[in-house]
Amino acid sequence: MLVTRFSPHLFPWRLLLLFLTLVGSSNGAVAAPAKAHPPRPKAAAGFGYKLVSLVELPNGGGLVGSLQLKQPSSTYGPDIARLRLFVKHETQDRVRVQITDAEKQRWEVPYDLLPREPAPPLTKLPGGAPFTTGEYSGQSLSFTYGRDPFHFAVHRKSTGQTLFNTSHGGPLVFKDQYLELTTRLPKDAALYGLGENTQPGGIKLRPNDPYTIFTTDASAINLNTDLYGSHPVYVDLRNIGGHGVAHAVLLLNSNAMDVFYRGDSLTYKVIGGLLDFYFFAGPTPLAVVDQYTAMIGRPAPMPYWAFGFHQCRWGYQNLSVVEAVVEGYRNAQIPLDVIWNDDDHMDAAKDFTLDPVNYPRPKLLAFLDKIHAQGMKYIVLIDPGIAVNSSYGVYQRGMERDIFIKLDGQPYLAQVWPGPVYFPDFLNPNGASWWIDEVRRFHELVPVDGLWIDMNEVSNFCTGKCTIPTTHKCPVPNSKEPWLCCLDCKNLTNTRWDDPPYKINASGKSAPLGYNTIATSATHYNGILEYNAHSLYGFSQAIATHKGLQGLQGKRPFILTRSTFVGSGAYAAHWTGDNKGTWENLRYSISTILNFGIFGMPMVGADICGFYPADPNLLEELCSRWIELGAFYPFSRDHANFASPRQELYIWGSVAKSARNALGMRYRMLPYLYTLNYHAHQSGAPVARPLFFAFPDFVPGYGVSTQFLLGDSVMVSPVLEQGATSVSAVFPPGTWYNLFDTRKVIVSGNNGDAVKLDAPLNEINVHVHEGTVLPLQRGGSISRDARATPFTLVIAFPFGAADADAEGAVYVDDDERPAMVLAEGEATYVRFHASVRGGKEVTVRSEVSMGSYSLKKGLVVEKLSVLGLEGSGRDLAVRVDGTEEADATAIAVASAHFVGADEKLQEVGKKRSVMVEVGGLALPLGKSFTMTWNMHIQA
Ligand code: NOJ
Repeated sequence: MLVTRFSPHLFPWRLLLLFLTLVGSSNGAVAAPAKAHPPRPKAAAGFGYKLVSLVELPNGGGLVGSLQLKQPSSTYGPDIARLRLFVKHETQDRVRVQITDAEKQRWEVPYDLLPREPAPPLTKLPGGAPFTTGEYSGQSLSFTYGRDPFHFAVHRKSTGQTLFNTSHGGPLVFKDQYLELTTRLPKDAALYGLGENTQPGGIKLRPNDPYTIFTTDASAINLNTDLYGSHPVYVDLRNIGGHGVAHAVLLLNSNAMDVFYRGDSLTYKVIGGLLDFYFFAGPTPLAVVDQYTAMIGRPAPMPYWAFGFHQCRWGYQNLSVVEAVVEGYRNAQIPLDVIWNDDDHMDAAKDFTLDPVNYPRPKLLAFLDKIHAQGMKYIVLIDPGIAVNSSYGVYQRGMERDIFIKLDGQPYLAQVWPGPVYFPDFLNPNGASWWIDEVRRFHELVPVDGLWIDMNEVSNFCTGKCTIPTTHKCPVPNSKEPWLCCLDCKNLTNTRWDDPPYKINASGKSAPLGYNTIATSATHYNGILEYNAHSLYGFSQAIATHKGLQGLQGKRPFILTRSTFVGSGAYAAHWTGDNKGTWENLRYSISTILNFGIFGMPMVGADICGFYPADPNLLEELCSRWIELGAFYPFSRDHANFASPRQELYIWGSVAKSARNALGMRYRMLPYLYTLNYHAHQSGAPVARPLFFAFPDFVPGYGVSTQFLLGDSVMVSPVLEQGATSVSAVFPPGTWYNLFDTRKVIVSGNNGDAVKLDAPLNEINVHVHEGTVLPLQRGGSISRDARATPFTLVIAFPFGAADADAEGAVYVDDDERPAMVLAEGEATYVRFHASVRGGKEVTVRSEVSMGSYSLKKGLVVEKLSVLGLEGSGRDLAVRVDGTEEADATAIAVASAHFVGADEKLQEVGKKRSVMVEVGGLALPLGKSFTMTWNMHIQA
């Protein structure tokens, strides 16, 4: 049977446009193929287990228990009679609770892919002593259990609070292809995570929205459904006595699953693998991501230039077009660091090739020489599907090394852009080394600066078992053809892997599991079933690509991947996939980006101005607003479909103006963003963060998804609505200074009242919070040059501060080095401390670690802007390291807007404040300094 069902994601531009026109959808939400809900099981899926033994392994090795099935149920297949329970406090803040078949090794995420502490083997356990106490305690968390029926709970030791509790939620069910477990939750717990998912309701999970997890090429315009990545982890934030306290729960499992969040409970229904839970104690959101990324891998360090602006488009027909785009940016004086090619540079959509006519190698090399000399970078796309073509070297070498995924002993035939393809198996060590070699060969052909790995969910235009057709011709490879399956395909329903007893898809639109991907009965290396490993494809490809790039020039790799799994952040950046030029999509981008910070993948952005075509009448305004927001995405790239109108930022004067303004600020903030990149690599701290990360006690901030923080002290409040010239923003408590004009000040209480901020078309509101020392540089149009310019330190005290402190830091290094470490001669880290005492004495000092790198680079601080001080006077005498050296000018602050009416604020409101500018400095960044002065207080 020829499978030619509508796929919402693979050929949306023509069919989607038609579809949208027909249904008149304004937000572009397109549902995946509709099918009725799976039939309700007649009988209960299971009746639970009894704990029959529990022993404690020696030397803190954990608890091992034996669970016995209470009563069989045949729904979704036979139960596994005996289970093994393993509990271990792996660190002081992390406990693991694993439940698996006691007799047989089951599929689990391979340890070589995601290195972690091994669980004890099923047999040959070291002898242990019977464990008779009801509680097994670590430093922060404790585990309790009940024997019949077996249930368990995890508690926070310091408060006794129950974090996870499987009693009363429903029985534990454990079958070969169906696992079920429920935890109860307090109704007021705020949950975040469980992705990848476009969440129209914002970052806070909404009870009864579907959360299905299985990597799928469904474009990001599809709401509340399983998208490109698999991240079965959630953060749970509760306000206890006025304090926000957070923990996280990871179910480490690569099989497809539905997670049902009901508000007071959460149920996992998983179709394979183990129940392997990891609980992370927090208690702050930052501690949660620190503990989480300590286990799954710290976010990869990104090169400095990756924080510059990127331009891409699917449909740069030839090199001259690309050259013109670079020129366009230059002429419009809009910053641009990286120019990208989608698949246009390829010969007939074949990976690792060049189109000899449109992208002739000599010309491309000359172009790269030119832009590299200017400090710019070049990135191209590759797809996992390797064209089945006996005269194509990449294919030949793959066949020789036998590295393709197989079905019935033959390479699995699929179709993507080049036509018929095979998919390499990155779980096969030979597959990975073949890929690494292909990356090397390609790099010899074209010295790219990074790679974009797309379509790796994996995406297939066909479904089932396919052969090359004999009765009709497949279209000549051309990615602009309608992307219908041209192979002869048979649906596979005869195996329990292709047609499992439980059909995932909480949203009730269950297509077959193998729909538009690899058949789930196909096999990888060593007989690993695609059924189990499906969601690991993009992850395994990112690891191999990372190795490939790292081995090349000893440089820090940059990889952008579409499909991700737990741990992908250690290798790659991510973009949110195929969105659309609509105001809704502009808004959705924020939640997805914030979620990826939680998933340990902080280098993330969305296609700026939208991928699928916008309404041409709306695009100009939308694009202005999108670049204003996108300039503050951690990864900032404009990308479009070839069917979209051209949307490079210089196309319209007004958009160019917004871009110069917003990207101008981004390029000034690059040292801050790069320092956040360093902190992310050290501790998992997201670059872009939800408000609750810095203000966990501020309950009105828990659901805020229209504003976000960069680090813990810069807040971005974009316009997300058509025609708006103001924006309603929430400010957590304290003083906030508008970074574009620091005389515009908001002083906020903690009741979460919104403030209406002016937001003319070309302006975005970005504020810096009190208590911050923010390092800025002069900016520029390319990061290589911007990073060499002198620094300004913006020092933000509370408005009218009498006694206050501010802190900040900057990390600088040679971003070409693979490792991001603080080593003498290779990197410098500077901490800044500022204080005001008695409203009079001001001190600003720096504390330098490993200063030689910065000294070698000649980096200097030229100016301080100190905000919030009380007092007045011009020409304040400033002493640097004890000697009188510079003059400071105090400028009165024009306006401060007070939000909230508590008494403390009223007091502050009586004060006036000045901004003190100390200019004309040339303090070496790499040398500690202390600066002091006294304010003149007028009676
Ligand atoms: C799908 C990707 O999501 C999109 O960004 C890209 O332009 C197309 N593939 C073509 O390569």
